[in-house]
Order: sequence, then structure tokens, then C-alpha cells
Amino acid sequence: MSKVLKLIEEDITRQRNTLVLIPSENYVSKNVLKALGSVLTNKYSEGFPGARYYGGNEIIDKIEIYCQQLANKVFKTDYAIVQPYSGSPANMAVLLTLAGLGGTVLGQSLFAGGHLTHGASASFTSQMFNAVQYGVRNDGRIDMEQVRSLAKIHKPKMIWVGTTAYPYILDYQGFAEIAESIDAWLVADIAHVAGLIAGGVHPSPVKYVDVITTTTHKTLRGPRGGMILITKKGLKKDPQLGKKIEKTVMPGLQGGPHDHQTAAIAVALEEILKPSFKKYAKQVIKNAKVLAKELGGISETHLVLVDLRKYGFGLGYQAQYALELAGITMNRNTVPKEAGSAFYPSGIRMGSPALTSRGMKEKDMVRIAGWIKQVLEEIRRHDLPKEQEKRKDFMKVYKQEMSKNKKLKAIRREVEKFAKKFPVPGVDN
Ligand SMILES: Cc1ncc(COP(=O)(O)O)c(C=O)c1O
Repeated sequence: MSKVLKLIEEDITRQRNTLVLIPSENYVSKNVLKALGSVLTNKYSEGFPGARYYGGNEIIDKIEIYCQQLANKVFKTDYAIVQPYSGSPANMAVLLTLAGLGGTVLGQSLFAGGHLTHGASASFTSQMFNAVQYGVRNDGRIDMEQVRSLAKIHKPKMIWVGTTAYPYILDYQGFAEIAESIDAWLVADIAHVAGLIAGGVHPSPVKYVDVITTTTHKTLRGPRGGMILITKKGLKKDPQLGKKIEKTVMPGLQGGPHDHQTAAIAVALEEILKPSFKKYAKQVIKNAKVLAKELGGISETHLVLVDLRKYGFGLGYQAQYALELAGITMNRNTVPKEAGSAFYPSGIRMGSPALTSRGMKEKDMVRIAGWIKQVLEEIRRHDLPKEQEKRKDFMKVYKQEMSKNKKLKAIRREVEKFAKKFPVPGVDN
């Protein structure tokens, strides 16, 4: 047997035995996996339906057109580009088309819950564009006054509205008013909440923005991928907008599309149109609310942000590590008025989409929150050193100590026993 196939088997066991609370992860269905692992990976089809640079694309054209139609139906948009390899390349294509190289772009800072590609200093989006960043107020919500004043001063060509670690509903209308006042393009990056919008449990930006970008692998429960959707509003401003962004995607940024991935996205979109997906989306929100309530966190979406400052200073990394030892995966995150750093933050971020896909309900969330609270008690008094130079060694010692922690080992045994009872979609059902 291939070594890789054996390793995949090992990861299936990991997926079965652990509790995934990473808000950007999910489980795809057997049919999505079937399309993704299909012979469509053999095909080259540079270009777009009806205008390919290779022969033999009659079926591929049908699949891509079907995928575009499904995307427009799900999100009530008017033009769909389904070829971007993932969320970041989709954002790159939009930035290059709407802001142009070196153009000014206003986006939410990484610290405040925005995505890397919205202008973070470590990302190409601040190196290739003039990135201006807005943040959140002391209460954690986006500072709309700051957005308005930065827009007025810097006159960005494009504004991002969309988040990666933000537990609140966004004010799309407020953003639209600001964008219109300076004649800027408004782009919603709905990567995190796309499935909630599709399921009708979260407001849609479609009325307010010109363009929407999304990943297809988070709450949408599709394969990894990206989509760019153009709204009526965007096409009214520029009827050629879709064609222009398409040209940036290919030949601008990419060669051949991943046809197996397009097919798998189409399968996921078919599933989203079934009534069972609406039920799923509702349950995602219910489960997140229970987690937030039990852990003293905040959630208006699928995502829960928990501030760990009540347990000590800079405990995000320590919490993530201890929880992983206990079989619960999530990630550390900065909190409003963060005094640590992005690497050593003071909070944890979790989400309910993956566990909800495994069939877990409110009572299961209460049980899981109970284990999380027990783990958090174990990390008390493991505060991050205030001196930066001491942090690396501190974590080394902390990890050694925690790996021997009997309480964490006991919780892990309970977690495994519990997790195994819930089938892993795509594998067990
Ligand atoms: C809001 C947002 N946009 C874009 C992306 C980028 O997607 P990808 O990781 O597929 O490049 C993410 C991924 O986390 C995201 O959360």
C-alpha cells in the first residue's frame, strides 16, 4: 500500500476521534469527494465555456456552466466565476481588476478579524497595493466612524467587507453608503459565512455590494476552492465587470482550471439547494450560541470568540495546545485591545460548522464546553512572560509539562469515546 494512502487512513482516524472546532473547517459529503477524486483531474481546459484553448471540453463546459448557474441561484447573483483555485487567488483577481496594481484598498486589519488578503502587512496585498486598514472599537465591533473617515481621507478604489475572525453580523448597508459616497467598489468576502447566507440564517450582502468573493470549503461544505460572484449593482456600474475579472483570473493569474474541483463545487451547491441544508445552517447557529453562552464568549454567527484574559495573560497559544492534547482542535486568536501578539494572543476562536455536520446538537455542545472549561482550568497560572525574549523557552517548557498532564489525558479518552459515536460525513455515511 502507498505510504500516502496509509497516512490518509491515519488522518481518517484522527478526524473520527477528535472534535473539530476550527470555524473554517468542515466535512464534505461522499459525492463531493467522488467528484473531487474523479477522472476530471485528467483534463486541461484553459479558457472559459465555449472558448477553450484545448479540445475535448464539451462535458467540462456543461459542468462549469452548471456550476455557475447553481452559484448564481444559491447567492442570487448575476455572474459567477468558479475557476479561482482558492479564496486568496479569488481575492487577488478582484484586487487587480478593481484597484489595479498599486491602487488604494481599504480593508479590515488582521488583528481586528480581517483576512490576510485584505491588506495585512505580511501579505502580498499590502506589498502590491496601497493598503489602508480599519479596526474595531473597544467593544469589538467594527468602527464604522473610522471606516468613514479613512475612506474620506484615502479615497480607496476598493473597500473590503468580510471577516475571518469576527463573531458579529456585518453592517453591509453602512459599508455601501460609505463606498457610494466616494465612488469606490465594495467587495464582500463571505468566505466564512457563505453557508449561513446560503442557508438563509445570515444576512446577504447581495443588495449592497458590487462583487462577492468566497471560499467553497468552509460553511459551504464543498471542496477547497474559490468563487467570484458579481451582483446586479456591480453589473449596473460596469456591464463588462464579469468579463474583466474573468480575464484577470485567466490568462491573468491562472492557467487551466481544476475541473474536478469545479465539479465538486457544483455537487456541493446542489446539496445546498436541498431543504436539509437549511436545517443544517440553523443548527450551526444554535450550536454556536450554546458554546458562546457556556464559555462566556460572543457569537452572532457560526464563530465564537472567547477572551481568555479572565484566566490570565496571553493564554491563547497555551489554550490551543492543551485543547489539542485533549482531542479538541481550534485556534488561538487576538482579542480586542490585544496586549499579546498575533503569535501569542489572548483568545481562542472556535466554530460549530464541522461538529454540526457530524450531527451534534445543543446538548452535545454543553458537554464539549464542559471539557473545554476543564482544560482552561489546567492552563491557569501559565501566563505568557511579558518579556518577548523569554516566550519561546517558556512555551517549550510548557509543552513538555502539558504533555504529561493526567487530567488532559483523561479528557482525551472521554472525548475519543464521545467523538467516535458521531459518523464522519464522506467516510462513515
Ligand atoms: C475571509 C476569508 N477570505 C479569504 C480566505 C482565503 O481562502 P484560502 O485559504 O482558500 O486562500 C479566507 C480563509 O481563511 C477567509 O477567511
